[in-house]
Amino acid sequence: MSLDLPVRLRRLRRTPQLRSLFAEVSVTPGDLVQPYFIVPGKGQKAETRPGVGLWQLSPDMLREEVQQLAKGGVGGVMLFGVPDHKRDDGKGLEKQMAPLEAAVKEAKAAAPDLPLFADVCLCAYTTHGHCGLVKGNEIVNDESVAVLSEMAVLLAKWGCDFVCPSDMMDGRIAAMRKALDEAGQQNTSILSYAIKMASAFYGPFREAAHSAPSFGDRKSYQMPAHNRREARRELLADVAEGADALLVKPAMTNLDLIRDAREVTDVPLFAYQVSGEYAMMRAAGDAGLIDFERAVDESLVSIKRAGADVIVSYAARTMARK
Ligand code: PBG
Repeated sequence: MSLDLPVRLRRLRRTPQLRSLFAEVSVTPGDLVQPYFIVPGKGQKAETRPGVGLWQLSPDMLREEVQQLAKGGVGGVMLFGVPDHKRDDGKGLEKQMAPLEAAVKEAKAAAPDLPLFADVCLCAYTTHGHCGLVKGNEIVNDESVAVLSEMAVLLAKWGCDFVCPSDMMDGRIAAMRKALDEAGQQNTSILSYAIKMASAFYGPFREAAHSAPSFGDRKSYQMPAHNRREARRELLADVAEGADALLVKPAMTNLDLIRDAREVTDVPLFAYQVSGEYAMMRAAGDAGLIDFERAVDESLVSIKRAGADVIVSYAARTMARK
């Protein structure tokens, strides 16, 4: 017996070739950006925990790594600095960022044309671990913006293609654009972490960057996960201030906001599959509960389908090296 069906969706799913032909989105290494944590010293190259994808490298170890990823067609590399000393007055950034300066130069020597991104934030640079300057118990906005702008100018001068403010202070994009232009860095782009939630999924990152807050939390500057309209306001504010590209994070808990962002603006859109998302899949894989590689592939496809053009992910390295 057969059903009288005008529509049979399974017809186009019969073979791998058909499924591939009709795939609406796909993810290639060229869509991905790989994060690295730059530590001081020489000859350092290790994951914070085996398999967790958070690589801490000294600048000298970056060259070969970046060459390999460039050969594998990765879309870009994003650097986070882990300084050897912390201070709370926002002065002496250049010294604190010395390993990062060396790393930017290594990465550019290894692959001059590979887009190079660098995080702009104070959490790894201060003893209190907050993303801005602290006065009393307050994370102050405008003074922080001034220091973050200086940080962006240094990164631009050293050769970064994108500066990526992840601090969530108000007005940083406009201030940063102005500072970059005044410093003659008109060609440096700003990738704004426009929608960044105060999230439980950053744990492994804070271990890698030594950036956990020593008091309180980040809820007075990072966004509450509850608010869709507020997320839209964040996006529009950053576009108006001159952001070249926008980023939403975490990715998997905010797929709806990635879709909103895609529809609200035509600015290129990034999503960050953050450390806790990747580590969660890894831990479940290690426990024999899920197939890690398939889970990662599925998650990246979902993020792309939601509307992201580019995904920052700890999976980029593995995909590009395959
Ligand atoms: C710095 C920053 C964080 C992440 C990116 N930039 C951590 C935080 O806000 O505490 C998280 C990325 C990840 O978890 O992979 N502010």
